[in-house]
Amino acid sequence: MPAVFKKKLETHRRQGRTNPLIWLAAILCTIIAIGVVIAGIVVFIAYLVIHPRVPVISISNAHLDLLRNDYAGLLQTQLTIIVRARNGNAKAHATFSDITFNISFQGQGIALLVADSFQVPKNSTKDLNYVVQSSSIPLTPDQMEKVDYSWKKNEIAFDFKGNARTQWRIGPVGSVKFLCRLNCQLKFHPLNGSYIPNRCTSKSK
Ligand SMILES: *[C@@H]1O[C@H](CO)[C@@H](O)[C@H](O)[C@H]1NC(C)=O
Ligand SMILES: *[C@@H]1O[C@H](CO)[C@@H](O)[C@H](O)[C@H]1NC(C)=O
Ligand SMILES: *[C@@H]1O[C@H](CO)[C@@H](O)[C@H](O)[C@H]1NC(C)=O
Repeated sequence: MPAVFKKKLETHRRQGRTNPLIWLAAILCTIIAIGVVIAGIVVFIAYLVIHPRVPVISISNAHLDLLRNDYAGLLQTQLTIIVRARNGNAKAHATFSDITFNISFQGQGIALLVADSFQVPKNSTKDLNYVVQSSSIPLTPDQMEKVDYSWKKNEIAFDFKGNARTQWRIGPVGSVKFLCRLNCQLKFHPLNGSYIPNRCTSKSK
């Protein structure tokens, strides 16, 4: 029979007392940990109280004032676009800045819309009115065909892409920044110029 070796469990008793410096470090760590948790709870409660609604940019209305294309393939157009900046936050002002929108038709740039930075008070909106007049845009035969087809279908679509930075002022402490992106199609009936409402609202990052 093989010998059975039984291992004796030994409890090692610590020698001496714990160094007071280690105690001090442990206490400090505990205090810091509690501080971090409390700070987290405060931020969370502030978040709930302020109830953030991310500022949004959308197209509130538009109109196709002019659409003219000739046999030489030149396109002339004028659009009225009302861009709405909404601050749904009831506790903080929002600043919109670095606003740039690019309007194009079939990959052909038509106009660039910009705006100076502005503030939108708590729980309100501000409308930006743009009248975009394009000079004669030379179209390729392919693009000319698209315009002809738009007349026949009584529907034309422009691409509207852009972005803006938004920022909240929360007391003197600071602000939260967002990037709003807008990427949608502006559709119109070319025969009477009326806008075909489309979900066109920014997505934030
Ligand atoms: C925000 O504005 C809407 C409409 O303008 C109003 O009905 C609502 O009560 C306002 N909310 C606050 C918290 O002021
Ligand atoms: C606007 O969009 C058009 C079409 O996508 C592009 O050709 C043009 O370069 C853009 N303009 C700017 C300034 O980004
Ligand atoms: C414009 O034409 C479209 C389609 O024919 C029609 O649905 C729309 O009501 C018209 N709008 C106006 C303001 O006449």
